[in-house]
Amino acid sequence: MAGLSLISFLHFLKALSYVRLPRDLTVFSPNLGFLWLTAPVTPQAEPDPPPVGPEFLRTPLYPNPPLLQPLHPAAFSDLHKAHLYLPEDTTEYFVRTKAGGLCFKPGTQTLDRLPTGVHGEDRNERPSGRQPARRQLSGSRTKRKTHVECPCLPGWHGPSCGVPTVVQYSNLPTKDRLTPRAHPRRVINAINVNHEFDLLAARFHELADVVDAFLVCESNFTAYGEPRPLRFREMLLNGSFDYIRRKVVYIFLDHFPDGGRQDGWIADDYLRTFLTHNGMSRLLNLRDDDIFIIDDADEIPARDGVLFLKLYDGWTEPFAFHMRKSLYGFFWKQPGTLEVVSGCTVAMLREVYATDGIKLRRREYYTMPGFRQYENRTGHILVQWSLGSALHFAGWHCSWCFTPEGIYFKLISAQNGDFPRWGDYADKRDLGYIRELIRTGGWFDGTAQEYPPADPKEHMFAPKYFLTNFERFRYLLENPYEKAEPGG
Ligand SMILES: *[C@@H]1O[C@H](CO)[C@@H](O)[C@H](O)[C@H]1NC(C)=O
Ligand SMILES: *[C@@H]1O[C@H](CO)[C@@H](O)[C@H](O)[C@H]1NC(C)=O
Ligand SMILES: *[C@@H]1O[C@H](CO)[C@@H](O)[C@H](O)[C@H]1NC(C)=O
Repeated sequence: MAGLSLISFLHFLKALSYVRLPRDLTVFSPNLGFLWLTAPVTPQAEPDPPPVGPEFLRTPLYPNPPLLQPLHPAAFSDLHKAHLYLPEDTTEYFVRTKAGGLCFKPGTQTLDRLPTGVHGEDRNERPSGRQPARRQLSGSRTKRKTHVECPCLPGWHGPSCGVPTVVQYSNLPTKDRLTPRAHPRRVINAINVNHEFDLLAARFHELADVVDAFLVCESNFTAYGEPRPLRFREMLLNGSFDYIRRKVVYIFLDHFPDGGRQDGWIADDYLRTFLTHNGMSRLLNLRDDDIFIIDDADEIPARDGVLFLKLYDGWTEPFAFHMRKSLYGFFWKQPGTLEVVSGCTVAMLREVYATDGIKLRRREYYTMPGFRQYENRTGHILVQWSLGSALHFAGWHCSWCFTPEGIYFKLISAQNGDFPRWGDYADKRDLGYIRELIRTGGWFDGTAQEYPPADPKEHMFAPKYFLTNFERFRYLLENPYEKAEPGG
């Protein structure tokens, strides 16, 4: 830990003292008609300067609405082979004020009442997108003076109100260099799934509009090496996930790795390696500056942080999320946060981590052979940081969040390596015993919960999907076995 901190700190110093001539000074957005400087430490890999000539400016970059991309009509048997074409995200997240400000719509107060006037009509007034750009470039003093910052809603920060609290109060060393992008990155979220289907639904709803592809891997073996039915595949085919189906890449692991039965950690790692290799190879139209995030099924990043990564340049990589920790349900909140390094750009994933998600999660980028070359090639300084903080959760980690039957299945399918393996003991597999653990917040080793139950009204108590479907997911939100205390 000490070594890691020292190295992070050295990188941090290096990043602060590092000055680089911006390679491409300006980027123009056909959507926004706005001009800005790119931040020097942006983890954005562009082998060549983008074509930003005047002709190019007037040509819409992305003529096809992304939502109309046809689904690949994969036959059932080809589900695990189908490719997914990553469409562009053409959502207009920002509006420009007449004064030249750029406001992130969801983070800004009542835009229609802004004194400066905004919206489409603003753009229509000007026949050519080059006019405002010129004016801004010339940078006359009066123009600068009238430049207003957007009035931010609570929870949003920065001149454009697009920086969420989980970034504003994070340890990101480059907060002063964040700039909105002309075009959103695409976000790829990779997970292995066993039977965490409620958590999976919460993830899908939380991230539906910010993640562009979910790589979901399922095996017909448990982590212990026993056969298991392909339930996720079944649900994908029977319509359970139709609301997100077009974004899901189904990955099928049909074998158990050599040595996985003797050493469960081999099986555990291999799942992530296979997920990343197979999943990434099946994405089309992928770019270096798109984002890859790998999670366990019980780690759900919150939407705002992921959206920020998608819309902004200037952050460093790799990144982690501080996640609120809970056990059996959100009602048993645990102290501290889970902080797992789980994301980076596609270029870094490929060049530093050899397209292997487990290497990313091991938080050892500075020992990877490709690390220095990647820094050299891109001019980026790699500084690990974490969205959120001990006080501002950027996601949820809900361990063993199942019904008692689900916990039973988790016990018997657990890998052979995380000892003691509680599934090996008949008394620990007993449903009555499991119910008692949920009731008390206790653990299989006999230790008891030392913290009071969490308050459902607290901020970031649980993903929104669970809260808005409270009845259906009550078992995760309220202790189902808590006996009514006499007298309150
Ligand atoms: C998993 O699927 C593969 C390919 O269909 C098959 O060869 C293998 O026997 C299956 N394993 C189990 C445990 O069902
Ligand atoms: C789809 O399959 C799952 C898993 O077998 C099942 O629980 C669910 O009820 C099915 N849904 C529909 C709409 O058939
Ligand atoms: C990075 O670049 C510097 C100078 O450009 C060079 O001296 C160094 O060997 C390079 N390092 C790697 C790992 O390529």
